[in-house]
Amino acid sequence: MALIEIRGLRRVYTQGEFTIQALAGVDLDLDKGEFAALMGPSGSGKSTLLNIIGGLDEPDGGAVRIEGRDLATMSASARADLRRNRLGFVFQAYNLIPVLTAIENAEFVLVLQGVPADERRARATKALADVGLAGLENRLPNQLSGGQQQRVAIARAIAPQPALVLADEPTANLDSKTSHELIELMRTLNREHGVTFLFATHDPHLLDAVDRVVRLVDGSIAEDRTRAGAGA
Ligand SMILES: Nc1ncnc2c1ncn2[C@@H]1O[C@H](COP(=O)(O)OP(=O)(O)OP(=O)(O)O)[C@@H](O)[C@H]1O
Ligand SMILES: [Mg+2]
Repeated sequence: MALIEIRGLRRVYTQGEFTIQALAGVDLDLDKGEFAALMGPSGSGKSTLLNIIGGLDEPDGGAVRIEGRDLATMSASARADLRRNRLGFVFQAYNLIPVLTAIENAEFVLVLQGVPADERRARATKALADVGLAGLENRLPNQLSGGQQQRVAIARAIAPQPALVLADEPTANLDSKTSHELIELMRTLNREHGVTFLFATHDPHLLDAVDRVVRLVDGSIAEDRTRAGAGA
């Protein structure tokens, strides 16, 4: 069973008299352990697809199954549970909570999951260490560089040990050296900890590092290319 199965996915936006087919019938399977990217022109539907997989937006047609469970047949609360327990999110603008320290941000999802305080602290500490931020646990986001903030966002995404991390343009705000380090970090999390990643990106360095590139054009898959030994 694929980790994610997407069938005939459609999303239509209406703006006044215009309708926009953001997704025009997408079929896609993603297996556990993949390190894959969606690419394609601006407006081709990458973020829409990630948001629907993540349960942040709803399709107008078609199906998304995550670990065999069809999102459409689940209650809103079951979808929220699935999102909290099985998915991690990393966005372009780190989305850290400015009044919380790095470790509090990293713990955030664990709080929502009801993980007891001691275990929460231990797991967030380890996640911060895994992303190379040991020693910076008590910094506020505005006391961290952009790359460090994005590492906190990755720590927050992986601390709950999700089945899948969805990352929308995770390197877009970073200089090329920091972006390179972050890509290496995510590749290591993928290889050594088995974290599955699905990116939306324009970043050629990230596209070079992934094993699979799915190219969207006008809401449809134009190309789906898997490469052996990528990113080595
Ligand atoms: N909330 C919305 N209301 C109306 N139209 C929207 C909305 N969100 C997205 N769209 C439209 O849907 C299409 C797909 O947008 P989407 O954000 O998925 O593109 P993208 O591939 O992520 O682009 P980018 O590379 O610029 O991030 C675009 O035409 C966009 O204008
Ligand atoms: Mg986008």
